[in-house]
Amino acid sequence: MPATSHVSKPLSTNTTPAGADTIRGVAILVAAVLIVVGGGLAGLAALRTRDGGGSGDDASAGNGGGEAEGVIRDDSWFYGQSPAVYPSPNVTGDEGKWADATRKAKQMVVKMTLEEKVSLTAGAGSRTGCSGFLPAIPRLSFPGMCLSDAGNGLRGTDFVSTWPSGLHVGASWNKVLARQRGSGMGGEFKIKGVNVLLGPVVGPAGRVVLGGRNWEGFSVDPYLSGALVSETVKAVQAAGVIASTKHFIANEQETNRNPSGNIQSVSSNIDDRTMHEFYLWPFQDAIRAGSGNIMCSYQRLNNSYGCANSKALNGLLKTELGFQGWVVSDWGAQHAGVAAALAGMDVAMPSGDAFWGSHLVDAVNNGSVAETRIDDMVVRTLATWYLMDQDKDFPQPGVGMAVDLTRSHKIIDARNSSFRSTLFEGAVEGHVLVKNIRNTLPLKKPKMLSVFGYSAKNPDHNYPTPGLSPWLWGSESFNYTEFSGRFFGFEGQYGNTPIAYNGTIYSGGGSGATSQSTVVSPFDALVQRTYEDGTALFWDFVSDTPFVNPMSDACLVFGNAYATEAADRPGARDEYTDTLIRHVADRCASTVVVLHNAGTRLVDGFVDHPNVTALMFAHLPGEASGRAAVALLYGEENPSGKLPYTVARNESDYPVLGPDVEGEGSIFARFPQSNFTEGMFLDYRHFDARNITPRYEFGFGLSYTTFSYDNLVVEKVGSAGQFGEYPTGRVVEGGQEDLWDVLVEVAADVTNTGKVAGAEVAQLYVGIPTEGAPAPARQLRGFEKPFLNATATATATVRFPLTRRDLSVWDVVAQKWRLVRGEYRIEVGRSSRDLPLVGKVTI
Ligand code: BGC
Repeated sequence: MPATSHVSKPLSTNTTPAGADTIRGVAILVAAVLIVVGGGLAGLAALRTRDGGGSGDDASAGNGGGEAEGVIRDDSWFYGQSPAVYPSPNVTGDEGKWADATRKAKQMVVKMTLEEKVSLTAGAGSRTGCSGFLPAIPRLSFPGMCLSDAGNGLRGTDFVSTWPSGLHVGASWNKVLARQRGSGMGGEFKIKGVNVLLGPVVGPAGRVVLGGRNWEGFSVDPYLSGALVSETVKAVQAAGVIASTKHFIANEQETNRNPSGNIQSVSSNIDDRTMHEFYLWPFQDAIRAGSGNIMCSYQRLNNSYGCANSKALNGLLKTELGFQGWVVSDWGAQHAGVAAALAGMDVAMPSGDAFWGSHLVDAVNNGSVAETRIDDMVVRTLATWYLMDQDKDFPQPGVGMAVDLTRSHKIIDARNSSFRSTLFEGAVEGHVLVKNIRNTLPLKKPKMLSVFGYSAKNPDHNYPTPGLSPWLWGSESFNYTEFSGRFFGFEGQYGNTPIAYNGTIYSGGGSGATSQSTVVSPFDALVQRTYEDGTALFWDFVSDTPFVNPMSDACLVFGNAYATEAADRPGARDEYTDTLIRHVADRCASTVVVLHNAGTRLVDGFVDHPNVTALMFAHLPGEASGRAAVALLYGEENPSGKLPYTVARNESDYPVLGPDVEGEGSIFARFPQSNFTEGMFLDYRHFDARNITPRYEFGFGLSYTTFSYDNLVVEKVGSAGQFGEYPTGRVVEGGQEDLWDVLVEVAADVTNTGKVAGAEVAQLYVGIPTEGAPAPARQLRGFEKPFLNATATATATVRFPLTRRDLSVWDVVAQKWRLVRGEYRIEVGRSSRDLPLVGKVTI
């Protein structure tokens, strides 16, 4: 499967950001016209489809001439790099929970004409603001389906909550909160008449540290990500809304994600073992949790487009993982007609006009695509609709999704006050305190507080406007000209501005942005709190060399690291914010730094300053941001988040910092290649293997209390017959069913040894015996988060069930998970580098 043998190309460990993007006014203008005329998102999609269609030999576009000798011009050069898997498996759904739904779907499909069936394989225009819409068939009382963004809450509408983003949920390491957030979001989508929630995100997985969309997902660790996506999918769907887990698969960078001119999308070239043990892992969890929909991704995988990749869709998804739902294309990610149909894509979004629609009818009539394939596309879609009871208990699709929020429209308030505590706790628990010296925090009724930094306050504007509204894309605080240039004009370039300097951020930007209305900034909450306490509060949000009152008991500096879809981040730190922090710290003995970071943010530019006495990564907390930050800073809440990624000392410590950008002169100039040669050695797996000391390791986070770990017990619990080398079970949703047999159970005691109550994320790592093959020293395979009072008896026994999959490696020859024979190392503790309990088990 690896496609790396032709020409070796160094991985972009230290790629230099490209120069300034020229703002293409014309492109933006065209986008604006399309969006306004085309009815909001459909117009945007039209633009992207247009951009995305360029696969010809257009010499005027692309790399500006000067092509290398032997430059590859023909896609057939790559044929065979991604194995062919045909035919596309039909849904099996005749038993279990799918039985009834599949039967009803089949009954409905029998009644449809070919044209009606084909109409359900692609989006169509609607009088709604949904991101995509499957048309109604009134004759059969099918009302259509509304699909809308995204995984962090419903975007582009009013009267919904601003939920914490994926990365924030990852930092909370809290399965219960993830589930509650999923229920809350699902409930809101349903009231708004959104049948499909376009999320959650587990791809990107976070390979590229500067990836523009890493914040939409939970963590760069597949186990953590898998555990949280599983809770999210179950909860969203229990609320009656279909989850579209995305982007399948290996959509790891924004740069070159779509074709442009004569340059195709980047190809993520991944070997089979890495695919299974790293990138596919969380998708497997999502499918096991029942994800009714999967969104195939923009980029190429082993040189075959994600939405026409038969190995990925027919093979991995529909055969190996027994996926029963439907595959929708990312918006404009379809680049083939017959090939996409045969490869397993089921629905084209936002429209099928370019490749399907009447062309698909022709393809059936001329025998290129069997009608049974169309039947299966529609059965999969309708069975999911029936399974969620959307045939009987669902509002009019898109009822709460006004096309234009600036015009008179019916207000449908989707919020449910019983989720306010989830919004608050979710915001609290995704904050990670990483430095706290000289008892700086919690603050103790300071006499005088000084606040600095652009990310403390709300942006100056917060409202939707007609057309290209910053509000609709989570960029009120960002440089909107730059954002729109990147997003609507020519995506995939590095942006220049690493921060959102017009205000605090509640989410990142792009389709995963949240719709912020009832939001509390850190400054809002501080004003309230200091007023109650009678604390003198001074502030300066704008100066980079502010006056610092020497009488301040503490100085709070709020900065951020912005990220958005369609562009990778320009850097992992920024000089403006670092300079501001150092300036304040030079003048204030107790400087507390709070960074809202939509991705990994390096801190070595300031963190060793002796007056930087506390540092908190605040991630993307959603609407309760300020309330949560102040509750933590004042000790009303005890920090309990842990880093879902590693913070390095230097950029060069990461295996893959920036995206792969194919330069001029390579034979791959028209087919950019991204070779995942580091395999699964990403994040802590890499730091462990190379013995690199990080600044803050994966899993690290401080509390206002302390915890001790004791009494490790490792026990084999599977029956003798369950320890065979390979699974033998039948394939159900998620793969062979005995992959989830619990073979080993680990238990440990966690005790609160400090003076205040708090929650601790106890983590379990497994070292799988390597048999000489390169393997990570340890991999996360369990976590629990007990809340412990500060009493003498505040001990909890945490239990970690280890399944066959947790203890297996992917055997590329057998094409199965293999339970390795030998001695497994078991470690339990506070972080990936603080593991006081060590044991073993032999299999
Ligand atoms: C994004 C998807 C999103 C879709 C619809 C695409 O650009 O990649 O994540 O769901 O647009 O807005």
